[in-house]
Amino acid sequence: MKTSIQTKELSIGYHDHLLFENLNLTIPRGEISVFVGSNGCGKSTLLRSVARLLKPTDGSVLLEGKDVHRMSSREVAKKMGILPQSPISPEGLTVHDLVKQGRYPHQSWLKRWSEEDSEKVEEAMKATRVDELRDRPVDELSGGQRQRAWIAMTLAQDTDIILLDEPTTYLDMTHQIEILDLLFDLNEKHGRTIIMVLHDINLASRYAHNIIAIKDGAVFNQGTPESIINCELVRAVFGMECQVATDPLFGTPHCIPFGKGRCVIPKVNEAISGA
Ligand SMILES: Nc1ncnc2c1ncn2[C@@H]1O[C@H](COP(=O)(O)OP(=O)(O)O)[C@@H](O)[C@H]1O
Ligand SMILES: [Mg+2]
Repeated sequence: MKTSIQTKELSIGYHDHLLFENLNLTIPRGEISVFVGSNGCGKSTLLRSVARLLKPTDGSVLLEGKDVHRMSSREVAKKMGILPQSPISPEGLTVHDLVKQGRYPHQSWLKRWSEEDSEKVEEAMKATRVDELRDRPVDELSGGQRQRAWIAMTLAQDTDIILLDEPTTYLDMTHQIEILDLLFDLNEKHGRTIIMVLHDINLASRYAHNIIAIKDGAVFNQGTPESIINCELVRAVFGMECQVATDPLFGTPHCIPFGKGRCVIPKVNEAISGA
């Protein structure tokens, strides 16, 4: 396995409260890795730390063997782009201007805005279908449109590693699949390493090569969805009872939660509602 990112004895937290202690994690290169775990378990914190947005209390994050906290922000931004969970854009900033900001790491006083920069911006806007919104202020868009504009900015950055924190939030089902398909193609056709947080374990199972399940400040398990997603994992990580079936289209694990609901198979109903 080729490594893209490694954490070494990483401890991270806020103030004097540690969320992760001595975490050793290896994220493969050229694959789609997805963090899953219950609300508040630290997925965003871990992703932000990997992206160098949060300084570790102890230990290190290695990007191609180099400590990210010893690299300049420009150096990191050329290799790794991140879409945070709830990004905020300056008031009135247009979609086009936002996406152009993705090219910032590629500029310098020697290298001004180029034809290549314009092309990357146009490509990114097209791929996320925000080209028609180019002159609209980002803060006036719907949640889904805004999310797509931010994804476009991350794509324009044109990095080998793309980190995304719940990129499908606010999107309807069609747009969720559209974005995940886009990320899938970026991986499959362009060899990009995708590392993201998804809260839908079924979509995670369908798109990820590698799932990293987080619980209590540690990696509960890591591996292919087929090898690690089962009732025990779902119970331990999400505190939920479920049946794990096979997705009829993709053959990937598909969790069906117990609980209440309209049921047309009376016998099964008794079992799943715990009656
Ligand atoms: N900036 C912050 N300052 C203090 N505590 C925070 C901060 N951000 C997150 N937390 C806390 O850290 C824990 C993990 O948060 P987070 O990483 O956002 O979880 P997740 O993304 O898995 O839902 C939560 O208890 C949250 O309240
Ligand atoms: Mg989060």
